[in-house]
Amino acid sequence: MSEKIKNDQSKLDKIVALSKNRGFIFPGSEIYGGLANTWDYGPLGVELKNSIKREWWKFFVQEDKNAVGIDGGILMNPNVWVASGHVGGFSDPLKDCKSCKTRHRADNLIANSPIGKKQSIDTDAMSTTQMDEYVEANKINCPHCGKSDWTQIRQFNLMFKTNRGVTDDSSSVVYLRPETAQAQFVNFQNLQRVSRLKLPFGVGQIGKAFRNEITPGNFTFRTVEFEQMEYQYFTHASTSMDDYEMFKSRAMEFYIKRLGIEKKQLKFKDHGTALSHYAKAAVDAQYNFPFGFGEIGGTHHRGTFDLGNHQTHSGKNMEYVDPVTNEKYIPTVIESSHGCDRLVLAVLCNAYHEETLEGDDVRVVLKLKPCLAPYKVAVLPLQKKDLGEKSDEIFALLAKNFMTTYDETASIGKRYRRQDEIGTPFCVTVDFETLEDDCVTIRYRDTMKQERVPIKKLVNHITKKLSK
Ligand code: GAP
Repeated sequence: MSEKIKNDQSKLDKIVALSKNRGFIFPGSEIYGGLANTWDYGPLGVELKNSIKREWWKFFVQEDKNAVGIDGGILMNPNVWVASGHVGGFSDPLKDCKSCKTRHRADNLIANSPIGKKQSIDTDAMSTTQMDEYVEANKINCPHCGKSDWTQIRQFNLMFKTNRGVTDDSSSVVYLRPETAQAQFVNFQNLQRVSRLKLPFGVGQIGKAFRNEITPGNFTFRTVEFEQMEYQYFTHASTSMDDYEMFKSRAMEFYIKRLGIEKKQLKFKDHGTALSHYAKAAVDAQYNFPFGFGEIGGTHHRGTFDLGNHQTHSGKNMEYVDPVTNEKYIPTVIESSHGCDRLVLAVLCNAYHEETLEGDDVRVVLKLKPCLAPYKVAVLPLQKKDLGEKSDEIFALLAKNFMTTYDETASIGKRYRRQDEIGTPFCVTVDFETLEDDCVTIRYRDTMKQERVPIKKLVNHITKKLSK
C-alpha cells in the first residue's frame, strides 16, 4: 500500500508546490518578481515553525533547571562584531566571471564542477590560493555563460551593513547580526548574576540572523534572513570535551525524539581542521535532503574565544569565580546551534509521503509528529445546515486547547485528503448521530482508522494522543 518515493529533485519540487499551494511557504515579494533567497511563511508554515521553536525551547531551556533564556537585539554595538571576529574573518571566497560579470563562490564552483564531483574535492581543506590554482588548472567553466575567464578570489564579508542615525559615514555603521550567539556572550555577567546559576549552565535564544549569501539556495535551505535556535553552555575547560560530546548526542536526540526525523537520514560531518575562526572543535549535523546531505545544525567548542575577546575589547571582566574553590576563570563555551528554517524543511521532507491505495489512488500525506502539525484537529460537519451549530460548539471547545481548523466544503473523503496533505493528525466528524448521542467520529491520519468518542472526553483523548 505504501510506496517509497524517490528522494530527489522531483520530491523537492512536490514539496515546494505543496508548500505554496497549501500555505506553508511562499516566495518572498512574489508580486514584484521576488527577491532571491527570501521566503514568507504562510498560515501553516508559521504554525509549523512555531511548533518547532516550542519543542526546541522545551528541550533546551524549559526542561533543564540549569538553563535560562534570552532575547537579544538584532542590532548590536559594532565593536561586538570586531571582537567576535566577524568583521575581520566572516567571509566567502568569491570569483567574478570576467565574461558575463556574474559572481560565484569558489568552493561551490569547484565542488559542483564535473572534475570536482568526480574527485570528491573537500574545499574546506583548501586555501584560497589552492582554490584559484584548481579552477585555473582544471579550466572550470562559469555555470552562467560557460566561459573560463575568472578574477582571482576576493573575500566578501557576509554581514549586512547599514547606517544608524542621520549620517552615513563609517562612524554610523551597524550590522544586522549574522548569528544570535553574541547576545549570550556580551550578557554573560548579567545572565549569571540574575539567574544565580553556578557553572556549568546554559542560555538559549531563538531569533533572526542575516547573511548576505550569494549562492541560490535549494528552496529555503540557504537564505539571507533566517532564524537560529542557539544554546550556549558555559562550562569549565577541564570537562569541556566531554560536554562537547554530550551536546553532539543532545542534538541528535532533539532531531529524532522531538522532531520525529528518521535517524538513518541524519549524520555528522566533522569540521576536522577546517574550523570557523572561533572554534576549537566542531561538527555539523546533516540531514539527507532531496538535493543531498546538508547542514541543519552544529555543535561547536568555542573555547574562551568569545568571552576572552569581549573582555579584551570592552575592558569589562568576563571571569567567573567558583564559589567553592574560589578559582577565577573565563568560562569555556560549548554551542549547540540549529537553523530553524532548515529544520522546517527537513521536517517537511521527512514527513512527505505518497501512498498508493486501491485502484491506483494516490494519497499525499504529511506524517508530521502530531505535536508539530500546523492544525492538530479538523472539525468536519457531515452536513452544513443541520450540523453547523453543533459543529461550531465543538470547534469552540477544541480551539481553546489546540490549533483547530474547520472545513464544511466538498465530500468527506476529499476533506480527509486535504487534512492528510497538511498533516492534521485528527479529523473530528460531526454527523446526525452526534445530535442524539453527543459522540463524534475521530479519524486518524496515519492509519485512516476511525473510532467514536464522547464529546466530553474529546479534549483529554486528543491531549493524550498528542503527548506521544
Ligand atoms: N553561532 C554559530 C553559527 O552561526 P553556523 O554553522 O554558521 O554557526 C548555525 O550557523 C546554523 O544556522 C546552521 O547549522 C544552519 O542550520 C543555519 N544557517 C546558517 N546559514 C544559513 C542560511 N544562509 N540560511 C539558512 N540557515 C542557515
